[in-house]
Amino acid sequence: MNQIIAIDGPSASGKGTVAQRVAEQLGFHYLDSGAIYRLTALAARQQGVLWSDEDSVLSVAQYLDVVFDGERILLSGVDVSDAIRSEEIGSGASQIAALPKVREALLARQQAFAQAPGLVADGRDMASVVFPAAPLKVFLTASAKVRAERRYRQLIGRGEAADLAVITADLEARDARDRARTVAPLAQAEDAFLLDTTEMDIDAAVAQVLLWWRAQK
Ligand code: CDP
Ligand code: CDP
Repeated sequence: MNQIIAIDGPSASGKGTVAQRVAEQLGFHYLDSGAIYRLTALAARQQGVLWSDEDSVLSVAQYLDVVFDGERILLSGVDVSDAIRSEEIGSGASQIAALPKVREALLARQQAFAQAPGLVADGRDMASVVFPAAPLKVFLTASAKVRAERRYRQLIGRGEAADLAVITADLEARDARDRARTVAPLAQAEDAFLLDTTEMDIDAAVAQVLLWWRAQK
């Protein structure tokens, strides 16, 4: 099954929203690969495992009991859909995501989402590592300022307290770590289309991805 659209990009560039909409339009499955890293970070925290302890995080990753049930994500039977979205767990996800053995252990779990009729997958290394043969690869980005404002509005919209300066600093620190790591760093793949959404709304970004998809067929 190689009906795959790989969408990578930095935090709050709109990957998840765009990927989900494109998947809906095409009737494809959707993989939020970041959620798998977030789940691993949360499970490690719950088990008292340090995010820097590669072998212990590896065994957490290997025995992760996860069910994706529509909008809900269950970890060992408990709904953690909201718990994994905090900036703290995002930071933990980025720390454990730099550990090579952990990435390797999570690979097959992500590739298993590639099922008929097709898949839209978003993350950091969908194009480079997880689905290198995907016929369409997109690198979605936006300026750091616009991304921080989007994340701010998203948190306020959920009724959470948010501080734009703190969000900007967290986002830049996470992006820097994701770009600098030696395994599967965040980068635009050579054969990926660049989509800069700094001044583009979600509908326009979705329309562009669909246009590229139809053009390559
Ligand atoms: O998945 P990722 O972290 O890249 O971003 P997201 O969660 O899809 O988007 C972050 C926020 O930005 C969401 O609230 C989107 O609705 C919003 N967004 C936007 O306002 N304009 C865009 N072109 C893309 C996303
Ligand atoms: O929503 P946002 O873009 O802020 O983050 P996410 O996609 O949920 O990913 C959380 C963290 O997981 C990222 O900062 C990356 O360090 C890591 N990640 C990764 O290394 N590889 C992926 N394919 C997806 C996420």
